[in-house]
Amino acid sequence: MNQTTTFKKLKIAILGSNGQLGQEFRFISASYEFVHFDFYSRQVLDIADADRLKNLLAEHHYDYIINCAAYTAVDKAESEAEACYAINAEACRNITNAIQDTETRLVHFSSDYVYHTYTGFPIREEDTTDPQGVYAQSKLEGEQIIRASGVPALIIRTSWVISSFGHNLSRQCLG
Ligand SMILES: NC(=O)c1ccc[n+]([C@@H]2O[C@H](COP(=O)([O-])OP(=O)(O)OC[C@H]3O[C@@H](n4cnc5c(N)ncnc54)[C@H](OP(=O)(O)O)[C@@H]3O)[C@@H](O)[C@H]2O)c1
Repeated sequence: MNQTTTFKKLKIAILGSNGQLGQEFRFISASYEFVHFDFYSRQVLDIADADRLKNLLAEHHYDYIINCAAYTAVDKAESEAEACYAINAEACRNITNAIQDTETRLVHFSSDYVYHTYTGFPIREEDTTDPQGVYAQSKLEGEQIIRASGVPALIIRTSWVISSFGHNLSRQCLG
């Protein structure tokens, strides 16, 4: 007897999909047969637009949102604080508001800049944060907004993005 098994594909939305990290997710997506990815660049979905974000996420019922969108111009942020906070902090509120009381879980990327100084390795989640500068402070504020929202979330404080796209360590090392 033939048995047909149907799998429900996991649905994942990638926000900020034209960045270094976002493009890496696009690159690997073809290898994940049982995952349906939707990729949203800034042009398609501006995460600062709370209403559009909420409507779009309500329509699609994603299992996971992976937020690769960010304001990442660390030096420029000093003179563009409002723009930096709008994306790195306030837009996190837009995301958590949009998925509050749903089954959607959030994966969000933060930075080791939230620590500024290290007292030893490994650095632990509960180690003291002391962000210096607008970018670092905005990243910590984004984390705090997500944690306070209570939505199920994984926050990754990475030091580097090594990507075959854009300008980063891999290009500096490999030319
Ligand atoms: N790169 C690193 O070494 C590093 C280190 C530590 C932590 N991180 C963190 O890792 C994450 C990914 O970094 P990355 O290097 O991939 O950054 P990236 O290359 O600068 O990409 C960020 C993306 O976010 C998009 N974006 C900006 N504002 C947006 C908005 N309002 N709505 C939707 N999309 C928006 C940008 O769009 P455009 O393409 O239109 O500009 C860009 O595609 C970020 O959270 C960053 O803070 C990165």
